[in-house]
Amino acid sequence: MATPEPVVYINGEYLPQSQATVSVLDRGFLFGDGVYEVIPVFAGKPLRLNEHLERLQRSMGRVSLQKPLSQQEWEDIFQILLDRNPGGDRSIYLQVTRGAAQVRDLSVASDIKPTVFVMVNDIKPVDYAKLENGIEAITVDDFRWKACDIKSVSLIANVMIRLHANELNVMDAVMVRDGLVTEGTASNIFVVDNGIISTPPKSDCLLPGITRDLVIELALANGIKVEERDIKKDELDTADEIWLTSSTREIAPVVKLDNHAVGDGVAGEYWKKIIAIYQGYKQELRNG
Ligand code: PDD
Repeated sequence: MATPEPVVYINGEYLPQSQATVSVLDRGFLFGDGVYEVIPVFAGKPLRLNEHLERLQRSMGRVSLQKPLSQQEWEDIFQILLDRNPGGDRSIYLQVTRGAAQVRDLSVASDIKPTVFVMVNDIKPVDYAKLENGIEAITVDDFRWKACDIKSVSLIANVMIRLHANELNVMDAVMVRDGLVTEGTASNIFVVDNGIISTPPKSDCLLPGITRDLVIELALANGIKVEERDIKKDELDTADEIWLTSSTREIAPVVKLDNHAVGDGVAGEYWKKIIAIYQGYKQELRNG
């Protein structure tokens, strides 16, 4: 049987994906003038829903976008889409742009209404044996803007950097600004050295990841030392472990960086600890 077409939400309507359209004058399309969120859902239960919606409000506030929906309205849309697109583990993708104007103009028309789009995608269950093999990455200059804390749909710099990494046959890149490590192209970074887990502090140089906060919380609750501090690029050369974290990737060990082995060149003991704790947390969410 053919897979049924996904149903998506667009500006108040639930439509088959192929029938959902936006104007060519939408500012999201013309200027990348919009923000988004990605929320993982396990056994029908969204992970850290409130935190994702709070970050959305924050992103919208930073770019002066009016709130298009209340928290309850968002939650209702998510539930309807999850029901209408049955499946296993999913991720909710939502995007709010400033909307479609009458003409292409950077200045914002007073009567413009935001475009709201939501879809639900399958997440392939994480293959932990494969994840344990780790990933290879390179370091690159972080030439993005000074507003990386906004979860903006303007991701062209991230795309360019990811393309560069992929052209060199590595999966991802760790970005470095003024000698300090910021984040991955779509993930936050953690470094383990002498039993202490460190991650850069929140600032306008990186996205405040929901997985980042969860990893810190779970590590602390399990007696693992965590520091939020600046990490110099040189520290990557001597780190015992490096991880990249995100809602879809969870916690990925980087085993090779700039063609050199990280630590012993395999997923480390702290990664093994934290991934087991993270799996336990997800299991509780599923059962809860
Ligand atoms: N990206 N930093 C960047 C630049 C990101 O794009 C992401 C996530 C993260 C991690 O955030 P979180 O833990 O809240 O997922 C950090 C999502 C998954 C994406 O763009 O698909």
